[in-house]
Amino acid sequence: MSEDDLNHYILMNAMVLFFCAIIPLGDNMIKIDKTFFNTKTDRKKTNSVKHDMKPKGKVPDNLIPMWVADMDFKVPPQVEEELVKTSRHGIFGYSYTDEEYDSLVVSWYKTRFGWDIEPDWILKTPGVMFAIGSVIRALTDKNDSVMILEPVYYPFAKITIGNDRNLVISNLKLDNNRYVIDFEDFEHKVVKHKAKLLLLCSPHNPVGRVWTKEELLEIARICLKYGVIIVSDEIHSDFVYKGYRHIPIASLSEEILNSTITCTSPSKTFNIAGLQVSNIVIENQDLRRKVWKACLQTGYSSLNTMAICATKAAYKYGHLWLDALMDYLEDNVNLVQNVLCSKSGITLIRPEATYLMWLDCRNMNLDQDNLDSFFISKLGLWLSSGSIFGESGNGFMRMNIATQRSVLHEALHRIDMEIQ
Ligand SMILES: Cc1ncc(COP(=O)(O)O)c(C=O)c1O
Repeated sequence: MSEDDLNHYILMNAMVLFFCAIIPLGDNMIKIDKTFFNTKTDRKKTNSVKHDMKPKGKVPDNLIPMWVADMDFKVPPQVEEELVKTSRHGIFGYSYTDEEYDSLVVSWYKTRFGWDIEPDWILKTPGVMFAIGSVIRALTDKNDSVMILEPVYYPFAKITIGNDRNLVISNLKLDNNRYVIDFEDFEHKVVKHKAKLLLLCSPHNPVGRVWTKEELLEIARICLKYGVIIVSDEIHSDFVYKGYRHIPIASLSEEILNSTITCTSPSKTFNIAGLQVSNIVIENQDLRRKVWKACLQTGYSSLNTMAICATKAAYKYGHLWLDALMDYLEDNVNLVQNVLCSKSGITLIRPEATYLMWLDCRNMNLDQDNLDSFFISKLGLWLSSGSIFGESGNGFMRMNIATQRSVLHEALHRIDMEIQ
């Protein structure tokens, strides 16, 4: 980003703080404010996993889907505009990521996180989990140990087991309503199982932690000491609330950079997960070559046309939309907190990042199956069951609040009516 661009960005940011984001689009000015995010979107019959799929069993007609991690908001207007332009072109031959693509990714990380990455370090893959699977196959052998910190995004466990690796779990500790890493247990298990990889979720889904510099340094100290490669999944890094700062673990030192694989993507941030794109940052040339070889072995070669188009538009024009979105989401979090603070049955683990609320429902004294069916059948709310994130998630539910305020109000009203 040039100095002029940066000044423009700072000025526009100031405008968001005082008014709202005004985005020029063709001859129009589009306002990105509460009204934009409040506008109802109908996602039914769009092959939406979240809206068109149904949970097992009998479900009420008025079921509100608040499970899988995508948002009910439209993408930034310029992203939509660029996708329409590309689709109107009407030819969809093979595409490749050009220099502009790389420089937009580089400048996003520089502007938002102060992290300097080089274009050569970026591998483009059709998703973070595709990349993590390739990393596992590239850098470990059958039965090697892979560490995860549970409760955590459940595909970490699935992909490890699915690739015949030994899954090693260190449970996070819930300390005063905030999850922390049990470093003693973590180090002990790294040594005992001779772990080769750590799959780190940073910020953490589902518990909403933004790991501090001290925590990241301690993770890195242990991993460097025992030769564990860090795979840092930073897909939620753009969703950090006021008062917290996401630090890419690889940005902390040359040594850490050299043994870290950072998984990034515009997909969660801009609600384009269906376009399947991720940018995997690997500075270490040897690791990068091995991971890329494993990607090629699947038959994959390049991103799809729409993913390239949307990523470029999002990273070029998406700053103001994202800042306005974060204000909106923070108000949604406050709303959840306000309703739940009078409930003895449910406690919100206040998220430092992500739009995924981790609800401690253990005081409701229901086993997980009954808890899941209480939310679906009695409340008409489809949340993610806590147990899928690991045994330590039993008694919890994960609620996706990236939806219109009116929908969230209705969901909270149902909770308010039925739960003490
Ligand atoms: C932590 C985390 N990693 C990865 C993914 C999925 O990424 P992708 O669709 O790029 O595989 C998700 C989706 O919810 C996620 O929460």
